[in-house]
Amino acid sequence: MQDLFAVLTPGDEEWLLAKALDPERMPAHVAVIMDGNGRWARKRNLPRVAGHKAGIEPVRTVVETCARLGIEYLTLYAFSVENWKRPRTEVETLWRLLRSYLKVEIPRLVRNNIRLNVIGRVDALPEAAREDLEAAMHLTAANTGLTVNLAMNYGGRAELVDAMNRVLDAARRQGRLDELHLDEETIHANLYTAGQPDPDLLIRTSGEMRISNFLLWQIAYAELYVTDTLWPDFKRADLLRAVVEYQRRDRRFGGLTAARKPKSELALAEPLGVSSR
Ligand code: FPP
Repeated sequence: MQDLFAVLTPGDEEWLLAKALDPERMPAHVAVIMDGNGRWARKRNLPRVAGHKAGIEPVRTVVETCARLGIEYLTLYAFSVENWKRPRTEVETLWRLLRSYLKVEIPRLVRNNIRLNVIGRVDALPEAAREDLEAAMHLTAANTGLTVNLAMNYGGRAELVDAMNRVLDAARRQGRLDELHLDEETIHANLYTAGQPDPDLLIRTSGEMRISNFLLWQIAYAELYVTDTLWPDFKRADLLRAVVEYQRRDRRFGGLTAARKPKSELALAEPLGVSSR
């Protein structure tokens, strides 16, 4: 959190939002469905790819802000298994943008102790993109701060199918197929996100009320936050607003009471900026 205040201007909107946050109750894992690039471009009479290009800056902002907030995991939905249905030129532009993003960002990720991880059916990605992603993962593998999962050629159902097949293959190899018994731990341990906490907060931009095959297993108890803001317009204040709203939620996980009173609720009950912190 101190890291965040270092780049904020006292008294402005972002600073007030940051002040309303309880550093003790930050989400461990934030997931984002980055949507609305095409509509952003259409509103400006630009080609769709201009929207994707404009979508790079918010990726930078969200990665940097999550790191400054001390969030441990950030998962970004960048390309779904269904996105291959788009025109070839659009898909190729997305790979090109990804590669140029990596080229610029890897040194910053390394410098800022951020680890990059890719989730999805990576083997089916174009070779050059796959190689760049693997290099980025390798170069940032020892980093211990924020982990950024880039969901690439990702589908929630595909992930579950892959997890089940991994379990079946392992049992077959060990000659223990007859004894195989599935439980939640086994499935979790074979997901692309094995070992990571489930997302606490799932943000979707551009107002669509859909999950779109994203992290189907992991979002069982995630707090959903949908904003009408189109992804290219998503700013640091939008992320802070989502986290403030997250901290106001009463998370019961199927029980009857929240673990404890959200501090941000108290902070928001006062005029912003007059809170004691
Ligand atoms: C959804 O908007 C966005 C995508 C399918 C691609 C996301 C890509 C980026 C944000 C840029 C590159 C990303 C990285 C990680 C470098 P849409 O095209 O579905 O928008 P629409 O619903 O308005 O048509």
